[in-house]
Amino acid sequence: MRTTTGWQVDGPTAPLRRTSLERRDLRPDDLAVRVDYCGVCHTDLHAVRGHDGEAGRPLVPGHEFTGVVTEAGPAVTRFSVGDAVAVGNIVDSCGDCAMCRAGQENFCHTFPTLTYGGADRHDGSATLGGYSREYVVREGFAYALPAGLDPAAAAPLLCAGVTVWEPLHSSGVGPGTRVAVAGLGGLGHLAVKFAVALGAETSVVSRSSDKADDACRLGARGLVVSTDPEQMADARDRFDVVIDTISAPHDLGPYLRLVAMDGTLSLVGHLGPVTVETMDLLVGRKKLSSAGSGGRPATAAMLDFCAEHTITADIELLASSRVNEALDRLGRNDVRYRFVLDMSDLD
Ligand SMILES: NC(=O)c1ccc[n+]([C@@H]2O[C@H](COP(=O)([O-])OP(=O)(O)OC[C@H]3O[C@@H](n4cnc5c(N)ncnc54)[C@H](OP(=O)(O)O)[C@@H]3O)[C@@H](O)[C@H]2O)c1
Ligand SMILES: [Zn+2]
Ligand SMILES: [Zn+2]
Repeated sequence: MRTTTGWQVDGPTAPLRRTSLERRDLRPDDLAVRVDYCGVCHTDLHAVRGHDGEAGRPLVPGHEFTGVVTEAGPAVTRFSVGDAVAVGNIVDSCGDCAMCRAGQENFCHTFPTLTYGGADRHDGSATLGGYSREYVVREGFAYALPAGLDPAAAAPLLCAGVTVWEPLHSSGVGPGTRVAVAGLGGLGHLAVKFAVALGAETSVVSRSSDKADDACRLGARGLVVSTDPEQMADARDRFDVVIDTISAPHDLGPYLRLVAMDGTLSLVGHLGPVTVETMDLLVGRKKLSSAGSGGRPATAAMLDFCAEHTITADIELLASSRVNEALDRLGRNDVRYRFVLDMSDLD
């Protein structure tokens, strides 16, 4: 085993604490990556707050990071020591099922191995995430970080970015498509940037008008205030695609009513059981969908698109020692629009 340092949580009310962590010795197709920057996703907050501190399964969050290859196993073909790489929220899959063969490893029939909180396919050990100085990953689940992208601001592309990229892409969003993004947070602001760069007529749906200036700066044509019934009524049936990134359980009815005939509401935010009034789908033949993470081809394509259009996240960079402050502020919606942790203080 090899040793590194990271931020671990032991229970739902405990702060994360700095501790030493073990990583596996490299297998032939593994890379050791020095983690330089790791984004703070709302899923990390859900995981930290919901964590039961199960003995032997410490939680180390972090599933969108960038860094540099420091060692490569003998069977590695795509990377060399010194290469800039990025890793997202899945680190392995079966490789054999129809989904994996179609390049949708994120939907692997045996469930993909999550970057943290998963179980390694070979030795069953708990996967520990990117809030740490080193990660060991199969080369097939690392991506070359395009040279033009700032490595700190690019880190959030690997979870927040690809999670909204896949539904935008698979819905055929392009010039003329009317897109609304509900919830202007980490996922939401990247969804706006992507939709605008794809040529879509893009709007934001937010709880207040506080983020209206930001929405315009990001390229949106306007902002609909979800708590204002008049504005929501005016926006009825107006969007071909609504990407819902809201991080809390909520009634889908008001968002389905924004969808145009034959359009789609794609729920990528809070995951879990939902209740749908059939009439909200029936009237207008609307579709309800969801997505999460990305397959390897889509992830690579998204990074290429970001390099071409110079898209990265709007970030606030903090030393990793401020991780607890970042999570608290994220819980209060006090970030515009993604915290990224600088891991260099772990040396
Ligand atoms: N499908 C996946 O694979 C996947 C991947 C990553 C994340 N997620 C999930 O996606 C969600 C968003 O993640 P994120 O990192 O973008 O979070 P975030 O940065 O906190 O953004 C969430 C946004 O949701 C809105 N919001 C928060 N509480 C709300 C409430 N009670 N009612 C209505 N709107 C509310 C806020 O937007 P306004 O201020 O504009 O209203 C907020 O900025 C989380 O639940 C996360 O777990 C899913
Ligand atoms: Zn995430
Ligand atoms: Zn599979």
